[in-house]
Amino acid sequence: MAGTAELKIDPFKKKSRISREIYGHFSEHLGRCIYGGIYVGNDPDIENVNGMRSDVVQALRRIRVPVLRWPGGCFADEYHWMDGVGPKEKRKKIINTNWGGVVEDNSFGTHEFFELCRQLDCKAYINGNLGSGTVQEMAEWVEYMTFDGISPMAQMRAENGRKEPWKVDFFGIGNENWGCGGNMHPEYYANEYRRYQTFVHDYQKDRRLQKICCGPAGDDYDWTRKVLSVCYNRHGDSDRGFMDGLSLHYYVYPEGGEIKGSATEFDTEVWYKTLSKALYMDELITRHAEIMDEFDPEKKTALVVDEWGAWYTCEPGTNPGFLYQQNTMRDALVAGITLNIFNKHCDRVRMANLAQMVNVLQAVLLTEGAQMVKTPTYHVFDMYKYHQDAQLLDSSLRTDMTGPDEWRVPELTESVSVDNNGVIHITMTNLSAERAVNVSTVMEQDAGNYRLGKIRGEILVSEMHAKNTFEDPECVRITQFNSVTPAENGFLFTIPACSVVHLAVDPE
Ligand code: AHR
Repeated sequence: MAGTAELKIDPFKKKSRISREIYGHFSEHLGRCIYGGIYVGNDPDIENVNGMRSDVVQALRRIRVPVLRWPGGCFADEYHWMDGVGPKEKRKKIINTNWGGVVEDNSFGTHEFFELCRQLDCKAYINGNLGSGTVQEMAEWVEYMTFDGISPMAQMRAENGRKEPWKVDFFGIGNENWGCGGNMHPEYYANEYRRYQTFVHDYQKDRRLQKICCGPAGDDYDWTRKVLSVCYNRHGDSDRGFMDGLSLHYYVYPEGGEIKGSATEFDTEVWYKTLSKALYMDELITRHAEIMDEFDPEKKTALVVDEWGAWYTCEPGTNPGFLYQQNTMRDALVAGITLNIFNKHCDRVRMANLAQMVNVLQAVLLTEGAQMVKTPTYHVFDMYKYHQDAQLLDSSLRTDMTGPDEWRVPELTESVSVDNNGVIHITMTNLSAERAVNVSTVMEQDAGNYRLGKIRGEILVSEMHAKNTFEDPECVRITQFNSVTPAENGFLFTIPACSVVHLAVDPE
């Protein structure tokens, strides 16, 4: 029998803007993310423009990728950018020590990254090397990318074929410096951060280069507090401490601790365990944001969740260093739940980057040679894209709990926004593995007289293990959702078990 829930929306109570960068992505030199997944060089068998796969670019443009983080990840703190510029035949071949020990031929470097951003029409988020690079090297990279005038780096850029500088919106100063980025203590990193960021000059006239400081892993609140204590210096020359954003990394490891478990074979208990761990993102953001509030009550500094997603044991038979995994309806739910959480915290969370874009971890696309499939996670990004730059609306849910005792989760999660045309977008997830829920939606009338227009719906629904494969790429796909009926002050609909729904409510 179906459950019941009540969704209340105040169409007049606008909260913060949902920064489009919450829907950002991450591409590391890891496994087949860049090489093969995005960049195929001169491969005559795969259609490409300047080396970028056309099928991948086209699919990514559809979900409106707003920003792309590169080159890592752990790779970033071993990356020396000069290895990746200039004639390709002269570029150094190095060992990718973090990811499988394979040869990195540096054929995809700075120029290629900006070509990818051009084709995707997205912003660039570059992650600099604090762990094993010098201050000078970082400063020169920023000069190389963004300085417009006479300087050694601008001249080198021109010699390498690019006269005009590029635009860099975000610059990360180190990655996971508590781990692969140098195993530093928070106080040590914080001082290093202060030093490095001093020389990351902002040469751009039309935009601010935003500096991202390495934040905590999951629930390491001590890291957040100690780093902010050193870096958030209100007496400095900046009203934002020394940073524009503090990162947070959190992965869902379903089986407990860091034990990962299969991407495709799991029982109902592990289903709820995984979703419960995805919901934990809400507590993490709330608690880190509370610490940030102590230093920055006006919320000038963003919390940037620049690595998130589900991390399973890699696909059997693949290189364990490549982190290639399949993607099921469980991942669609992880994505839907997490993006709803980000939307609701959009006053503080102003960028997030799914790990990773193609062929690595919770990817939106998988490729094999010339073939490509869109994963269930891709379809969630497609349905949620309407929230980008919309205003979050006040909404609340009365919903039952479900799942085994240790892993109780709310049956439903939601977020609601209104776009520039007055269209209200509701995204909802049903976490229940077996129960549909009848949702009574009430448009609160306290502040005015809201009149509903036409309602359009779309849904991603399937059995919890359902996935897209190269043999059956359309097994999980978005279909129309027509079960909405009008009611007094609102409308009714039934959300099936194990599904993600998007409703667009037109103004009358
Ligand atoms: O996304 C894979 C890896 O996870 C990244 O390189 C690192 O930052 C994190 O530990």
